[in-house]
Amino acid sequence: MHSSTPTPDAAEALSQRLSSLIRAELAAAGWLSFARYMELALYTPGLGYYANARPKFGSTGDFVTAPELSPLFGQALARQVAQVLEMTSGDVLELGPGSGRLALALLRALQSMGRLPGCYLLHEASAHLREHQRALFAQQAPELLPRLHWVPAPPPRFSGLMLGNELLDALPVHRVRWGEAGPEELGVALDAHGRWVWQPRPITDPELLAAARAIDAPAGYESEIGLAARRLTADLAARLQRGVILFLDYGYPRREYYHPQRTQGTLTCHHRHHSHADPFDRPGLTDITAHVDFTAIAEAGHAAGLRLLGYIDQAGFLVNCGLPELLSRLAPDGADYVRAVCAAQKLLHPAEMGELIKVIALGRGVEGPLLGFARGDRSARL
Ligand SMILES: C[S@@+](CC[C@H](N)C(=O)[O-])C[C@H]1O[C@@H](n2cnc3c(N)ncnc32)[C@H](O)[C@@H]1O
Repeated sequence: MHSSTPTPDAAEALSQRLSSLIRAELAAAGWLSFARYMELALYTPGLGYYANARPKFGSTGDFVTAPELSPLFGQALARQVAQVLEMTSGDVLELGPGSGRLALALLRALQSMGRLPGCYLLHEASAHLREHQRALFAQQAPELLPRLHWVPAPPPRFSGLMLGNELLDALPVHRVRWGEAGPEELGVALDAHGRWVWQPRPITDPELLAAARAIDAPAGYESEIGLAARRLTADLAARLQRGVILFLDYGYPRREYYHPQRTQGTLTCHHRHHSHADPFDRPGLTDITAHVDFTAIAEAGHAAGLRLLGYIDQAGFLVNCGLPELLSRLAPDGADYVRAVCAAQKLLHPAEMGELIKVIALGRGVEGPLLGFARGDRSARL
């Protein structure tokens, strides 16, 4: 189940193989949109950051996500999942399950509530991570395996809950610079020394152009536009017969995302728990991520006939789902208790995930209010 950790030399060799592949595509095309570069850097089969076997999640990897901190996160989320399953008699589809730890905590909690769904579908872009998820369940909860189904694409028709935790921030984004003459796209080119450099081009994609023109940014301003996140939301919405799409991710409403002071956007890279801003550094060994424009996600859902059921920060969502009460049930002694308290602090604290991560719910054929948004819903800010 454990990812094999390549030696530093093997890791460098992997990164060089991926760089050569990207360089070849770049040389043939002359210029790549940043979204294409990010797609290659993260998802090239076998070599891309999420596709290779290097550890990514948790203390031995590059970053920590909520499910890696503590099963308390999945246990609290399970209460929201149970409510949607009750409303729809449907299933769960998790997108981008990563290590599989969220699925494990969720299903164990639903089991103890007597609310297991008939099917728990997993849609994961990385073949390596799919195997990792399967191995985790084979080792820790083999009795749940018959309910799990790995699907190569979301089903054409689905009822129940579609769930993505830190999925949207891992999707490719376009990079845009707003100038005196309007917006232009920043892509990747080779300079005279064969190094990758940012290079502007006129925007040719009509969807990107419309999105960029709709943002009122001062000259010299640079940021990202996440077309892939909007398209995924629209695609999922078209498949949702009855139920809820729930996304949890780093992000803001549009007004805050494109705030005049955020002049360089939100693009961030992670390597061994160190953050930096150079997406060309060691492709394949570096996570590349950008925050989510939640207004765009709400718009994409609305255009596909979904209703906005709630928008709130992670702390508000988890408190509404009863995380403090789950914590209070633990015996207040021993290392496990201390670990759980520290995890809860990270999940809820405004300077950590509590305020930085937001939760959005979009639905069809279900009536609110949803448990996680019962108090402190900030939908009006979108
Ligand atoms: C930042 S990780 C989050 C993993 C996990 N949800 C968590 O919270 O720890 C992003 C995950 O989404 C997967 N992914 C990215 N794009 C995807 C797509 N279009 N469909 C399915 N999975 C995708 C990645 O392979 C990875 O497992």
